Amino acid sequence: MDMAAFLRFHEGAARQGPGTAEDVGWAVAAAGTGKGAKVLDAGAGVGCDIRALREAIPEAEVVALEVHEAFIEAISGRYGPEVTAIHGSMGPEPGFDGSAPADFAKLGPFDLIWCAGAIYFLGVETALTHWRRALAEGGAVAFTAPVMFTDTPSQEAVAFWQGDPVGMVDEVRQAVTAAGYQILAERPEPEAGWEAYFAAQKDRIAALRAEIAAGREGAEMAEVLDQAEREAQQWRTLKREVGYYAVVARPE
Ligand SMILES: C[S@@+](CC[C@H](N)C(=O)[O-])C[C@H]1O[C@@H](n2cnc3c(N)ncnc32)[C@H](O)[C@@H]1O
Repeated sequence: MDMAAFLRFHEGAARQGPGTAEDVGWAVAAAGTGKGAKVLDAGAGVGCDIRALREAIPEAEVVALEVHEAFIEAISGRYGPEVTAIHGSMGPEPGFDGSAPADFAKLGPFDLIWCAGAIYFLGVETALTHWRRALAEGGAVAFTAPVMFTDTPSQEAVAFWQGDPVGMVDEVRQAVTAAGYQILAERPEPEAGWEAYFAAQKDRIAALRAEIAAGREGAEMAEVLDQAEREAQQWRTLKREVGYYAVVARPE
């Protein structure tokens, strides 16, 4: 798939992964994040959860961290001084665009690290280990990670993750424990989160199909749109086998 077309597709979408404002409220309540907290939105995409974070946590200060510069541009200037958009990697290694790891000693400490649909870029144990020193005393991490809900997945379920090795819920729990965290709350990502993601994509697909018809986008974009439509159909068929798992955890 053409990476530039893939990113162009996502740049204009309202969200880049499954999730809703209710997920944010659930995680903030479980973490006990209070008024005036400092929050890191790690792998923020276009910042679809920033508003919900600021609604769930009065007077929150949010740092949105992203490797893809066009996403940062989408966030910058949309909020007041309480929201900062930073270009950099949330992990210990450079991001996929080569951007340097963010300096958490300078940006933090954070009362909550929120990471919706992005932790798989690092792996749960690596991410939690790296973020530990960025957390304030009593701080917590909330994330969603791809999982299999069955130990006998169908071929279609394995193919859904496009070759990425995706484990079961127990493997996510074990990674959290191995990083020295205790789980405060956990649940499968509700179906509403996936439907919100696909609804955002539907708008973007319609807009880009019109661009293709007008000759302003080509075959690479048509392939991206076909794949996005297939993903939605496949998830609806496979949702008992594949999904995201949401975890709120705090260092022991
Ligand atoms: C599936 S999207 C989710 C975005 C957003 N949280 C949402 O729910 O819409 C994953 C995001 O992680 C970002 N990302 C990947 N690796 C990263 C890294 N090392 N540091 C920061 N962001 C990263 C990608 O650019 C992408 O925007």
